[in-house]
Amino acid sequence: MAVTPPGTSAATADIRIDSHLDGAGGRSLADDALDGLTRPFKELPPKHFYDARGAELFDRICELPEYYPTRAERAILEQSAAEIARLTGAVELVELGSGTAAKTRVLLDALAAAGTLSRYVPVDVTESMVRECALALTSEYPGLRVHGVIGDFERHLDQLPEAEGPRIIAFLGGTIGNFPPGSRRRFLREIARLLGPEDHLLMGTDLVKDPSVLEAAYDDSAGVTAEFNRNVLRVLNRELDADFDPEDFEHVALFDRSNEWIEMRLRARREHTTHVRGLDLQVHFDAGEELRTEISAKFTPERLEGDLAAAGLELASWMTDPEGLFALTLSRRPSL
Ligand SMILES: C[S@@+](CC[C@H](N)C(=O)[O-])C[C@H]1O[C@@H](n2cnc3c(N)ncnc32)[C@H](O)[C@@H]1O
Repeated sequence: MAVTPPGTSAATADIRIDSHLDGAGGRSLADDALDGLTRPFKELPPKHFYDARGAELFDRICELPEYYPTRAERAILEQSAAEIARLTGAVELVELGSGTAAKTRVLLDALAAAGTLSRYVPVDVTESMVRECALALTSEYPGLRVHGVIGDFERHLDQLPEAEGPRIIAFLGGTIGNFPPGSRRRFLREIARLLGPEDHLLMGTDLVKDPSVLEAAYDDSAGVTAEFNRNVLRVLNRELDADFDPEDFEHVALFDRSNEWIEMRLRARREHTTHVRGLDLQVHFDAGEELRTEISAKFTPERLEGDLAAAGLELASWMTDPEGLFALTLSRRPSL
């Protein structure tokens, strides 16, 4: 498939794709690696997992018996999509971190059945995902226009197309949990600024539960999450000419009870030094030293309402699955 150069757009009758990514994966990878790998406690942000292979591994994670969030969120959508369509009257759905938009179809079906659906705006850092999703959805939903945005939702929210009517901004999959608390509120404020009086934020959040259930979801018995975690090292090797051996690192997933978040880490199996030639950087790892690759915060209703309120949003609807594993919330700016 053709690559759309950064800062450009390409369009057919039903599909328009804008790309805002630049070199080296365009995800500030070089900056993040330089910053994160030279800290006393090494760290990389999770957005760098998702090259095409990472996205494929994430899809496999969603099918794993231990990974309940996808099934729970889908169950909530199946139960509530018609009501969401009725409450919002949305003509368009903007989705941040859209991936393959697998669950999104439940929502698109409901908006189509309500007769309001006109446009879908997927936003993702993974170019192939945005393109494949645009092709698939325009053929599955006759008359639907797709305006894809290949970009980083932390940097490119101001590049979203103007709203064409009441819209839903969806942020599914519990991805909001990847932000530490302060950045989370800042990011929610940025989303809130995009909402007009008729718009809603639809957000999926994973809920606090038994740590053994949480840890199993991030450390599956088939080892798919471990491969996904190590994939970030392959991304660094390819994009920044590094020489990590992914097998030098062990996958670690643990629930931090005081912060109520899952941490994924990569633990060096032996002492070694890696060269990141693209950054002219040598990175030393002691045996047992850990590199943090993701946090995934878990929510209580109080934590979520506090975050929404801090962002100037009010809760319109709280939906959960029968087992209370996951929550979907609809929120909006309060009317004056
Ligand atoms: C946990 S997956 C969720 C995918 C899908 N929304 C779901 O619920 O199954 C996170 C998605 O967000 C994308 N993503 C992560 N960080 C991003 C960023 N900073 N900007 C844009 N997309 C991002 C990834 O490429 C991936 O498709």
